[in-house]
Amino acid sequence: MKLRVVLSLFISALFFVSVNAQETTDEDIAERIKPVGKVHVAGAAPVAAAGPRSGKEIYDSACVACHTSGVLGAPKLQVAADWQPRLDEKGFDQVWKNAVNGINAMPAMGTCNSCSEDDIKIAIEYMIEGI
Ligand code: HEC
Repeated sequence: MKLRVVLSLFISALFFVSVNAQETTDEDIAERIKPVGKVHVAGAAPVAAAGPRSGKEIYDSACVACHTSGVLGAPKLQVAADWQPRLDEKGFDQVWKNAVNGINAMPAMGTCNSCSEDDIKIAIEYMIEGI
């Protein structure tokens, strides 16, 4: 007796699952398997492309490798002595343009494939903040 009740419960559960499965549309499946976020590889560090990023986030993911220690003469983060002469000589817009196009050992866009020119701009603004 008891077994029969358990069995019928089991069968109705199975039926419920199969009905549900049939209701799954292609859109549901596409929704479920779509990528959570796109990931770009810029230099060595992966950069999440989703949403607007702060200058610090861009710096930390794309510029930090060279600009923290001053690799190959890169002007160091928020070090006035490194930045002020460049800004005085060229002006902010030219410095920004050079970062976009590359200059000497500074690679174009700092190798940040997912960055827009404005992203580069806010990263520079962060790099010269408080100098
Ligand atoms: C592979 C190392 C490297 C990476 C990565 C890098 N830089 Fe640079 N950057 C340099 C070097 C080296 C210089 C100095 C170039 C020179 O003036 O000779 C420089 C210079 C600059 C300058 C000054 C340009 C000028 O005209 O004086 C800016 C602005 C700049 N980088 C921004 C960035 C930003 C923003 C990022 C990240 C998105 C970045 N860099 C990533 C190496 C790097």
